[in-house]
Parts: sequence; C-alpha cells; structure tokens
Amino acid sequence: MIKPKDTQAREAFVAAADLQAGTQVLDLGWEGECLEYLRETGALATFVGEDIRAVQKAEALRINGVLSEMPAEVISGVRVVFYKPAQRSAKGQVFEWIDQGFRALEMGGALYLAGQRNRGIKSYVAYLHAVFGNSKRVGRAGRVEIYNATKKQNDPLQAPVDNRMTFELCDLPGSPYSVETRAGVFSRDGLDNGTRLLINCMEVRPTDRVLDWGCGWGALGMVAARLSAKGNATLVDSNIRAISCAKGNLRRNRICNAVTRVVDARFFDLREKFDLIVSNPPFHDGNAAAHPLIEGAFRALRPGGRLMLVVMRPEAYLKHIRRIFGKGNIIAQKNGYVVLHAHIGN
Ligand SMILES: C[S@@+](CC[C@H](N)C(=O)[O-])C[C@H]1O[C@@H](n2cnc3c(N)ncnc32)[C@H](O)[C@@H]1O
Repeated sequence: MIKPKDTQAREAFVAAADLQAGTQVLDLGWEGECLEYLRETGALATFVGEDIRAVQKAEALRINGVLSEMPAEVISGVRVVFYKPAQRSAKGQVFEWIDQGFRALEMGGALYLAGQRNRGIKSYVAYLHAVFGNSKRVGRAGRVEIYNATKKQNDPLQAPVDNRMTFELCDLPGSPYSVETRAGVFSRDGLDNGTRLLINCMEVRPTDRVLDWGCGWGALGMVAARLSAKGNATLVDSNIRAISCAKGNLRRNRICNAVTRVVDARFFDLREKFDLIVSNPPFHDGNAAAHPLIEGAFRALRPGGRLMLVVMRPEAYLKHIRRIFGKGNIIAQKNGYVVLHAHIGN
C-alpha cells in the first residue's frame, strides 16, 4: 500500500528524532497527529496549540493538550521540540514559535522543524539557524524536509521577534479606537474592507446584546460594545492569540461592557440569547463553518434578533440562511464584499 505523503513525513521525523521512552517532547504542530507515533516510542509528549479545535483533537487522542500562545510558559526543560507550521501560518508567527521552542528546550535538546520548499521552509530554517547558531537537514519525505537545531547556549543568538503592531481607527462609529495586533491574527495590519462594510451597516441599539462570532482582534465587537452603551458584547474566537488581542484592545479602549471567550463557535451553546449576531466568517472553512454559524445564530437569537454577515461568495450563505430563517437579504455590496441580513420574527 502507498502511504500518504504526510504519514511518510511523520515517520521520517520520528526516525530522525530517534526518541527514547520517557523523553520529554513538546509538539508545536502536526495538530497532534504525530503524537500517535510518538506514543509508540513511549515519549512523554505535550501538544501546545493556539486553536481550541487542535487542542481538542489532541485530547481526543488522549494526549496532553494545552491551549496557549506562549508554549515556553507552559512547559520547559524538554529534550525535543518539533514543529511543522500549518500551511497558512504567518511568517512572523512561525518565528515567534521557533523562539518559544528555543526557550522550552533544555540545554543540548533539539528543535525539529519540518515543511515544504514551496511553503516557506527556507526562510524558517534561516531563522532557526539565526536563533540556535546551527541547523542541519536530517530527513526528507516527498516534498517535506526535516531540519534540526541543537540548543548549545542559554540565550538565543538573535533577540526574539516582536510581532506587535499598533494603529488608530478614527472613522468608525464610536471612534476613536486604538488597536494592537500580532502576526497570526486575521487582518493584523489594519481593518479588513469586508469588516468595515459590515460595521457601516450595523444598526446597534443602545440595549442590544451582541455576539461577535470569530472576533479576531475584536473590530466588530469593540464597535458593537461602544454603540450598545446599556447592552453588551460577547467576542468569541477559537484562537487564543486572537482572543488575547481582542481582550487587550477592549482594555486599551476602556470598553467595559464586553467579554471574550475562546470557543469553537460552531458548537456554541451559550445560555444567554442575543439581539444581534455579527460575523466576518472564516472563508477557508466554507460550509463547515457557515452552516453551524447560521444554525447556531438561529437558536441563539431572541425574537426580533438579527444576524449580519459579510462574505465574498454569498450564494451558499444566502441559501442556507433562507432555509433556516425563512428569509434573508443582501443589504450592501462593495468591492466584492456582500453584507447579508436575516432576522427572527417577533
Ligand atoms: C475572517 S476572520 C474575521 C476576524 C474579525 N471578526 C474581523 O472581522 O477582523 C475569522 C475569524 O474566525 C475565527 N474562527 C474560525 N473558525 C472558528 C470557530 N469554529 N469558532 C470560533 N472562531 C472561529 C478565526 O480564528 C478568525 O479570527
């Protein structure tokens, strides 16, 4: 039987790392899948991820999974770190995690880094080398190459990356807003045009309870909270990095009537009900996110409650909105972005 390429890559990693029973391992990638192989070696593995779905996947495999954006604050003194950055990772975020991997290692321990040539592995390895002062290729499976670097000194040879970015937004309802973002969070260098269109269509009443589904650094939720002065906003995202930015932005802007939560919002079962649910949904996930979002919104809205989404390809969303809500409309369109609206009858 021909094995899938990724399986070969995992096996190549396990062979290259030559793990012993009891070796402390930190898994920063492969979303827990490599851990099944690690378990066979008897290694003591911890998976650290930023997305709650990846951590839940690790836990389902009965692997110690921790949700964190700072792995080195969760675990240290490990012998082996391995990391295969996800396909759509931001470069700065990968660099941050290489820094974290260095900090988590004991002296003499090694970080294994895997990736494809056409997906940035060269620049990741250059960074790895700059931090550790050494690196070598130790394995290959199909297009995936595996490198390692050994920790030979206490401090990294290069200062850790600082991916923070700040900007002001002065032309939105309730302005001004001061924003801080980081690499790895959606639209981290400014407000997304789709989000801006949705904000400009949002009618938030002073007592509204608003849910921002997939809040990222918090644009929709911050504006909603300011406009619903006697109501409140709940900002949810599956990614802890996004939530820590959103939380920081609420604090920076002294917005007190808003809370944040890390949840897989496809399955949210929030006891409270909302008057308005807004989202710029994850476009890579297609119907896998769209259907639960629309169905969950229908359940979570009060009588008279509204759902507002901004999307680029409205057909599938609109079809499902009409199936679930009975009706739904396009209320704005600009530069390829479309705002959809549906409401629950009183
Ligand atoms: C297109 S971004 C929009 C971010 C932000 N609302 C904005 O407009 O700038 C979609 C967001 O949804 C989050 N997300 C994706 N799947 C999710 C899920 N199942 N549950 C909660 N959040 C999710 C992503 O982490 C990302 O931050």
